[in-house]
Amino acid sequence: MDYLVIGSGVAGLRAAIELAPHGRVLVVTKDKPTEGSTEYAQGGVAVALSDEDEVHIHLSDTIKAGDGLCKREAVKVLVEEGPARIVELISWGAEFDREGMRLAFTLEAAHSRKRILHAHGDATGREIERVLLKKVRSINTISRYPFAFTLDLIVEDGRCCGAFLLREGEVTAILSRAVILATGGLGQLFARTTNPPVATGDGMAIAFRAGAVLEDMEFVQFHPTSLYYPSAPQFLLSEAMRGEGAILRNIHGGQFMSSYHPMAELAPRDVVSRAIISEMVRTKSKNVFLDLTHLDGRFIKNRFPRIYSTCLQYDIDITEEPVPVSPAAHYMMGGVWTDLNGQTSIDGLFAAGEVACTGVHGANRLASNSLLEGLVYGARAGQAAASYGEAAGPQKMDIPEPEYKRPKRDFDPEKIRSSLRKLLWERVGIIRCARSLTEAKTRLSKWTVISEMDFRDRRLLELKNMLTVAMLITEAALRREGSVGAHYRSDFPARGKNWQRHINIRKEGSGFRMNSAS
Ligand code: FAD
Ligand code: SIN
Repeated sequence: MDYLVIGSGVAGLRAAIELAPHGRVLVVTKDKPTEGSTEYAQGGVAVALSDEDEVHIHLSDTIKAGDGLCKREAVKVLVEEGPARIVELISWGAEFDREGMRLAFTLEAAHSRKRILHAHGDATGREIERVLLKKVRSINTISRYPFAFTLDLIVEDGRCCGAFLLREGEVTAILSRAVILATGGLGQLFARTTNPPVATGDGMAIAFRAGAVLEDMEFVQFHPTSLYYPSAPQFLLSEAMRGEGAILRNIHGGQFMSSYHPMAELAPRDVVSRAIISEMVRTKSKNVFLDLTHLDGRFIKNRFPRIYSTCLQYDIDITEEPVPVSPAAHYMMGGVWTDLNGQTSIDGLFAAGEVACTGVHGANRLASNSLLEGLVYGARAGQAAASYGEAAGPQKMDIPEPEYKRPKRDFDPEKIRSSLRKLLWERVGIIRCARSLTEAKTRLSKWTVISEMDFRDRRLLELKNMLTVAMLITEAALRREGSVGAHYRSDFPARGKNWQRHINIRKEGSGFRMNSAS
């Protein structure tokens, strides 16, 4: 194989398309090809394409939301290359919603212009995944390998040259000229999340074990409005609903956002999530309500068909009654450090999409910027990996099958998984402090032994990765003694010293080394 792409969401597929003219490409994914956050993305994709918008306004909104920690050059690339990537996607068949012949743009929190394109109302991610998968299927140099779990990267003499995959109980070594990691996020580390089950932070753990630098691990974004209804699964209620006029109310029916922020319902996500938590504490309740009942029912059904029908399955008619919601872990701003071309700190290893940390989102991602990031940086990582692979040449080496001794297992993995998710939600969640983080660290250290074991089972491997990444988030959150963007410390509510530095972590021996870098 010439190129290995791990993950088939927006970032992995876009990278594979770019690599295709340069050799044989294998796209592996641990579940069915469509299972990932991309498929579930609702609100839309932000792009400066409307008549009232400009690239520099998109740039400044992104930087403002990032709360001082965005890397300007990375944002510039995103907003400048975004329009071409979207036009290209439309030329491949993407059907974004239109008003008459013109593309329809909507508003979301912290955007100063209507710039969110959406598809089939609230099924934007599904449309993007459909078009990219169709394109990939039409290219004969790309093969797909679903239900193949990436265990670890193969790194020889400091160069990444493939990965070990687990499929149907068998381990296979895949060698390649370059590897692109596009494994998505880690919402499943938290008891409340909008993310699908595959989002267990595997790519970050795999890259950490291989020696890559990870950055900004303390910055986890919590979405303000996830369905909170005992008999229903957790389900996102898009921010676009607030963009269209939905109101947040506490359990007594009171509207509260305007007393927390001048932009009220459209304040940045971290502000809205914390305001909801404060209101829940104040009213001793487990949720607040998202109210759309003052909007036209037909409009709601047309604009949010997927959300409307999902809620109706659980006997909630969003056109007639306020919907119970509470915040949930949604997006990881940090991840595997990369340069503007997706190059990580390991030769031959590239990363793109949510697993990567390009610095584009800073401390808080602007809504609907991640699908765009997947397209722009997926393509860039593909180009850079192709150039690297052409210079490096094919891989020819004997890789012995890794030795495997089934570990003695005297723990209940499902119980630990559930305890871990609760621990992170309660102690490393929306509001953190030294005490909660230290408690989390102490509990996590009791499970370190599991993160050092070797397994041949997807659930156990996910648990191992979740434990590793949980430790990295907790350590970075402890290190940042200040509140910036989505990272809020109740014991350090101000920004703190050296707040503009980024925190880097890499493996060292059996532990890690953490640095602050500007
Ligand atoms: P994903 O799409 O998550 O794909 C990850 C891939 O990696 C999957 O194929 C998975 O199987 C594979 N994988 C993971 N681990 C392994 C492993 N060990 N071995 C092999 N394969 C592996 N963003 C927006 O911009 N606009 C929105 O409207 C929006 N709405 C959202 C709504 C929801 C409910 C959620 C959860 C997210 C939303 N986001 C939105 C965020 C956005 O969808 C994601 O950040 C983005 O889709 C991530 O794309 P990706 O390609 O990096 O990863
Ligand atoms: C949403 O639709 O609210 C999610 C948008 C995003 O996460 O970018």
